[in-house]
Amino acid sequence: MPDFIVTPWEVSGEIDYEQIIKEFGIEPIDEKLLFYIKEITKEIHPFLRRKIFFAHRDFKWILDEYEKGNPFYLYTGRGPSGNVHLGHVMPWLFTKWLQDKFDVELWFQLTDDEKFLFNQSLTYEEAYKYSYDNALDIIALGFDPKKTYLFSDIDLSGTLYRNALKIAKKITFSTIKATFGLDNSANIGQIFYTSIQTVPAIIKSIIDEKNVPCLIPHAVDQDPHFRLSRDVLPKLGYYKPASIQCIFLPSLQQGGKMSASIETTAIFTQDSPKDVKKKVNNAFTGGQANAKLQRELGGDPSVCSVFKYHFMLFTLDDDEIRNIESRCRGGDLLCGECKNNLIQKINSFLKKHQEEREKAKDKLDSFLIKEKIDLKAMIREKLKRL
Ligand code: TYM
Repeated sequence: MPDFIVTPWEVSGEIDYEQIIKEFGIEPIDEKLLFYIKEITKEIHPFLRRKIFFAHRDFKWILDEYEKGNPFYLYTGRGPSGNVHLGHVMPWLFTKWLQDKFDVELWFQLTDDEKFLFNQSLTYEEAYKYSYDNALDIIALGFDPKKTYLFSDIDLSGTLYRNALKIAKKITFSTIKATFGLDNSANIGQIFYTSIQTVPAIIKSIIDEKNVPCLIPHAVDQDPHFRLSRDVLPKLGYYKPASIQCIFLPSLQQGGKMSASIETTAIFTQDSPKDVKKKVNNAFTGGQANAKLQRELGGDPSVCSVFKYHFMLFTLDDDEIRNIESRCRGGDLLCGECKNNLIQKINSFLKKHQEEREKAKDKLDSFLIKEKIDLKAMIREKLKRL
């Protein structure tokens, strides 16, 4: 039995990213590639420098094409089954950076269909409602409305279904079982679903009626979908989609990723300052049993979830993070101070985010696209014609 599990629907255990690179067949982002990115973007995002975005498929090809004057578009997504947490926000912040640096379109999929099919306790109506709720968090991050298309799968089901059909015909049930670990107890919507997640990887090619490269930023759990997309799409005459992939923001407790299903270990974008304080104060740390021992022996940032939050999201300045690390190891920085520092940073991020989220309620129409089908009106029209 492996010590960890990473699939689009389950992430658990202590994840060995080196092993994932081998098993998934993705490529690490090396210094040469970082140098190439920097040549184009002029600065390198801390997520890249710190190997938080650590792997890719064909990212170099995306840059080569861009340099040749064949620009790409971005595609990413969210499965709206509940409130958004900081783990989800991480790849979206990076996606925004990519949109700003390369000045490209973003297609953002809200997979209410997926969440309805895979989450036994979620109703169709609840999943659809979460699409519109989660859209506020996405808009709050400041994507360019002129270049961003946000859609719920339910709202765009006509286009998605028409194109998913062609994809689905090229995928067998046994491939689905092998790729996703689904078995005979899976409902038939789950078996079909991946073909819907593939469509946005060609949506711009469909609209522009020519092949357009697509780059998909996501955490590594989504890779199995796009591994399949890469198999199938060339058979339909499209490019393989490229990807750039990040590790998981961990749980505030020991092991695993930040997960919405264990509320006390995750920080949600709508948490109050009091919630944040409570959760961070209860977090698993690399500290000693008491202050005296901590001063004598120092702490261990390598296992500390508070340090990981500083490192991955909230202390992106290199000098500052080095300082936290060395003061912790040297016994000079106690957990209380380090936690308070993190609490303040998270709360100031959330304050701004929550303000932008409120404003986003008036911006939904600038971002969302949907197919408006009025079946009753269509029937009336038809009867009138007779
Ligand atoms: P979802 O809603 O599970 O996650 C949304 C995005 O967040 C990433 N993610 C995380 N990243 C860092 N740390 C974490 N703890 C963490 N948890 C989740 C996910 O990898 C994802 O990038 N099926 C998808 C929705 C989707 C999609 C896409 C995602 C549709 N098309 C294209 C990425 C790219 C889902 O349920 O994501």
